[in-house]
Amino acid sequence: MDTLDVLTWRDGHIEALDQTVLPHQVRVLHITTVDQLIEAITTLAVRGAPLLGAVGALGVALAVGQGDREGWDRARLDAEVKRIADARPTAVNLRREVLAAAARIPRGRAAVEAAALAVARFADEVSQRLSRRGAGWLRQACGGGRLGDGKLSVHTHCNTGALACLGWGTALGVIRALHCDGALSHVIVDETRPLLQGARLTCWELGQLGIEHRLACDGAAPFLISQGMADAVVVGADRVAANGDVANKIGTYSLALAAREAGIPFVVAAPESTLDAATPSGAAIPIEQRPDDEVTVPAAPAGTRALNLAFDITPRALVTAIVTEERVITDGPVAR
Ligand code: MRU
Repeated sequence: MDTLDVLTWRDGHIEALDQTVLPHQVRVLHITTVDQLIEAITTLAVRGAPLLGAVGALGVALAVGQGDREGWDRARLDAEVKRIADARPTAVNLRREVLAAAARIPRGRAAVEAAALAVARFADEVSQRLSRRGAGWLRQACGGGRLGDGKLSVHTHCNTGALACLGWGTALGVIRALHCDGALSHVIVDETRPLLQGARLTCWELGQLGIEHRLACDGAAPFLISQGMADAVVVGADRVAANGDVANKIGTYSLALAAREAGIPFVVAAPESTLDAATPSGAAIPIEQRPDDEVTVPAAPAGTRALNLAFDITPRALVTAIVTEERVITDGPVAR
């Protein structure tokens, strides 16, 4: 799987792999309008913090093209750009890259397009650097691993591979780099309710890469960790606040607590673009609330209300290391 399979800019429109139907169908969405893009983002057909940044930037180019065709004035264009930036609130990459691309609008459509394509290319390149740095750090931190054979087993959550990031991914990129180094035993993948990004997407990616893995219920994760089944927990992030608090897929916090209790590293792999100096702490990170039916259907009685928070906050104190493409942060604030 390469960048082009996940997200492509073709003849002024976006082609994206529809992640709602994977792994059972491989379907490409042809996104030609802002409405279609918002639908793809809110239904999680395109998802994962770095990919949201790339598709958001391309979305600005798309909006400029649609505006040219339909004769939008600048106020209408700005309103459409804002709709894209607001489509999901937690992943800082979306807003950041949308605003950066929008700043190019006065220079014309070609300049916006070039900036947006650069975001996608950069995400790919960054993920490789981050992955290698994370794998190197983990091998040092975990020594020979719990079996002493130099092979690590890693517990992970949600989907953080090429589908979420382009390139190698973040947490899954670190896992892939360990695998390439011959330093990976296997991966334990949380199913990641309610939308099952772990079961559907991570297991699919790991299968394609030939990486040994086992799928676990989310609720089993803390117990599995307590039983010494993993050398480390490695996850991605949707936003890291200036003080190092981490927003990531709901269920991440319980992994951090379990890792602390078991005395194993809890590592967050995220590009610098996911670190948000403007957000002082986790308390200021907006947490997306998603529709009830994602949780209630098909099992709950009709009329049951859900508490469907898409993300949780893991406090800095529970994070052993934050690995970016440039550094490994083990102490102090992340803001430079
Ligand atoms: O709701 P999603 O599927 O967009 O959530 C994705 C995650 O939580 C990922 O862990 C995060 O974006 C990091 S992706 C590299």
